[in-house]
Amino acid sequence: MEVSWDSLNAQIAQCDKCGLCRQIHNKVPGQGDANADLMFIGEGPGADEDLQGLAFVGAAGQLLTKMIAAIGLARDQVYICNVVKCRPPRNRTPEPEEAAACLPYLRAQFALVKPRVIVLLGATAARAVLGESVRITRDRGIWVEKKGVWFMPTYHPAALLRDAAKKKDAWHDLQLVQQKLRELQG
Ligand code: URA
Repeated sequence: MEVSWDSLNAQIAQCDKCGLCRQIHNKVPGQGDANADLMFIGEGPGADEDLQGLAFVGAAGQLLTKMIAAIGLARDQVYICNVVKCRPPRNRTPEPEEAAACLPYLRAQFALVKPRVIVLLGATAARAVLGESVRITRDRGIWVEKKGVWFMPTYHPAALLRDAAKKKDAWHDLQLVQQKLRELQG
């Protein structure tokens, strides 16, 4: 059964299923158009996101905004969230158990938004959604279709900030996303 946004947000606010919530300032559930055709999923909140309670508002978020603009959209036309809703200490990668504990919230967001295309930003998001065998350098840029929903793994914007040489591939992947949305929207 589908939960409502109110009930989902209340569940996330009260959640203490893994230890991450003990050291945070704010939960970061995600934000954007609740009916978006396009969803972006990142890894987990960083320091800026933790302070503001909003996903992708720091340096990686600013690059994500540019990536979204590059395909002709504004941030408020897409839905943006993360695998884990609480900042891992020192921005470490979430443990598989932490990701697994948080996954029901991501699934609920997916069920409510009903996106047609999902961009998986980095290995953590791609593995949480598509399976642990994903390798981002090998599997990025390749569509995975499940029940009519199209998943595109690509580099995380933080990886693009660390290594500008990856931007060319990320740009290619985003163009595929733009084409797919055009096809699906007819
Ligand atoms: N990195 C992420 O994966 N998510 C954010 O919200 C910010 C940085």
